[in-house]
Amino acid sequence: MSLNVVILAAGKGTRMHSDKPKVLQPLSNKSILQHVLDTSNLLQTNNIIIVTGYKSDLIKTSISDPKISWRLQDKQLGTGHAVKQSIPDLSNEKTLILYGDVPLIEKSDLQKLIKAADSGLAVMTFIKDNPYGYGRIERRQGKIHAIIEEKDSTEEQRKITEINTGIMAVNTKYLISWLGKLNNENSQNEYYLTDIVKLAVKDGIIISSHTAKNELSITGVNSKKELAFIERGFQLKKAEELMSKGVTLIDPNRIDIRGELICGKEVSIDIGCVFEGKVTLGNNVQVKPYSIIKDSYIAENTTIEPFSYIDSSKVGPACRIGPYARLRPGSILEGSAHIGNFVEIKNSAINFGTKINHLSYIGDSEIGKNVNIGAGTITCNYDGINKHKTIIEDNVFVGSDTQIVAPLKIGKGATIGAGSTITKDVPEENLTLSRSQQKTISGWVKPEKK
Ligand code: UD1
Ligand code: CA
Repeated sequence: MSLNVVILAAGKGTRMHSDKPKVLQPLSNKSILQHVLDTSNLLQTNNIIIVTGYKSDLIKTSISDPKISWRLQDKQLGTGHAVKQSIPDLSNEKTLILYGDVPLIEKSDLQKLIKAADSGLAVMTFIKDNPYGYGRIERRQGKIHAIIEEKDSTEEQRKITEINTGIMAVNTKYLISWLGKLNNENSQNEYYLTDIVKLAVKDGIIISSHTAKNELSITGVNSKKELAFIERGFQLKKAEELMSKGVTLIDPNRIDIRGELICGKEVSIDIGCVFEGKVTLGNNVQVKPYSIIKDSYIAENTTIEPFSYIDSSKVGPACRIGPYARLRPGSILEGSAHIGNFVEIKNSAINFGTKINHLSYIGDSEIGKNVNIGAGTITCNYDGINKHKTIIEDNVFVGSDTQIVAPLKIGKGATIGAGSTITKDVPEENLTLSRSQQKTISGWVKPEKK
């Protein structure tokens, strides 16, 4: 099908009280406008035009799609005037008009609207109990006769609950001719796109409509309050999708998915968790309250204890992470590893069965199987200029409060005595320690208070 999509995004969004144009405000993991664009790209179109005005350069640089045509509406003289700017680009038979600030518009509704525009003009409507502020759909003998803006309406018209969502699909030739005939003789002195309805009636065109069912899908974002409302609605929808596939969510109102979350069977997610980017949770993974997981893969039977932060990491099966653990980018854990409280891992590979249970920093390291890292162990991987690597082989036992000054290697089966500062390679199997001898000064006198 040959379709033009025009996205109106010239408005400033005064009520956001932000330096950012409204359409660049974030919803979940992308801008409001990007949501509209992504949905547009699901339609069979080769021609997307975005009309900008306020801070248009900022909008252009934020959207990196070379296929888009950009048109500038210098002054915001109304929705009809905005669409008019796109005329030079309208090469296809039908034109779909979208608002850059209505982010959750649904593909299936748009497809029905586009089909309905076989009549020449189709309007997307919605039935709203409180229609205040919206253009009202005036029908005569059931047929759409006009769209009346709130500010131009009579008391009688204000009672109409069928509203104009603003989204329309229209025969391009008709659209161009109607846009040429718009005037701004109304209470706001604007060129209303909605006035093309009257012109269509005059031309004997039957105006069809499609009524959207889901309010969230047609809701525009004008303020931070509305942005938060839409965000919550969007999140609830994602939560419901997960539950419908069998994921246990302790409270679907207290989860945030800012990207794609893929879950296996018997996954359970407690309250307050945030998932960013692409996250995969294998079968029987349990995520306890208030954890953040970003761009990571968590294999089956692993438990993420509360307040853990996992970023760009891969966690093998049957691991236990946290509470209060931090896995930074490049942490790769094989199976059955335990990473405990206040442990930070960065760019390190941790093999099967290894335990790092308390208060440690492991960076740029390769740690073998069944290693035990005592509380308070630090890999000193940074000399102030370069990063260096630590290698700890299988079955090593590192006593508590040890500093390992990289680069070095600890041979398999070695034991490091607690409180050591290790600066050289350590041989296999033996006990190595670096500590001054413990001594007791007999007859020592405690100082007295002056
Ligand atoms: C418009 C409709 C109204 C509908 C409502 C739904 C008209 C005249 N009225 O009203 O019937 O119920 O949307 O929300 O069309 N824009 C521009 N340039 C302009 C003016 C607007 O690009 O000169 C863009 C805005 O950035 C926004 C969209 O068009 O994305 C809608 O503008 P807005 O001012 O919110 O329209 P309303 O007056 O609320
Ligand atoms: Ca609006």
